[in-house]
Amino acid sequence: MKFFIDTANLDQIKEAQDLGVLDGVTTNPSLMAKEGITGADNILKHYVAICEAVDGDVSAEVIAVDFEGMVKEGEQLAALHPQIVVKIPMIKDGIKALKYFSDRNIKTNCTLIFSAGQALLAAKAGASYVSPFIGRLDDISTDGSFLISEIREIYDNYAFETEILAASVRHTMHILNCAKIGADVMTGPLSAIMGLLNHPLTDSGLKKFLEDYKKGN
Ligand code: G3P
Repeated sequence: MKFFIDTANLDQIKEAQDLGVLDGVTTNPSLMAKEGITGADNILKHYVAICEAVDGDVSAEVIAVDFEGMVKEGEQLAALHPQIVVKIPMIKDGIKALKYFSDRNIKTNCTLIFSAGQALLAAKAGASYVSPFIGRLDDISTDGSFLISEIREIYDNYAFETEILAASVRHTMHILNCAKIGADVMTGPLSAIMGLLNHPLTDSGLKKFLEDYKKGN
């Protein structure tokens, strides 16, 4: 399973990259705003900085909600850097834009996926990735992990090449559930990735090894 980090924070991106386990980055307008990155020019520059900090795909989201606007913005984003993946919302014109970019070999990530039907439609349109938001489904007492398993089954039935990018991942159990089900990618915060490290028996075991080493020297 590929690990993407879901942030526009360059320090966190660099920390995950330095760990050696990072495969890409996802961003969205809310994450950009959270870092205080505003204004079209600053946002475009920030995407380039992210691409330069990481080896792998970097999702950059269009703001337009009409086909022509998405195509114009998406082409501008894709021209910024070869690692850019154009992120497109799951709406009617978004489907048309996915097909447009797929026909031109420009990678896309269809975002705001909340049902298996939406994921099927995005795959038919040639999306490179679909982003089911599992945390937000869990927030409304709906099993986000179940959606991942439904999409996995459908894509495997027909050998769709679209990758399942589990998004809105909030914690380590989300990551583990996605890995068990077979999501191709997960995107989450640095805290969830680093959380995989932790086990009290590792800490106490290492403490004991180091103490015993000192006794013998
Ligand atoms: O990748 C989508 C993600 O940014 C949404 O996460 O935590 O805002 O639901 P969250």
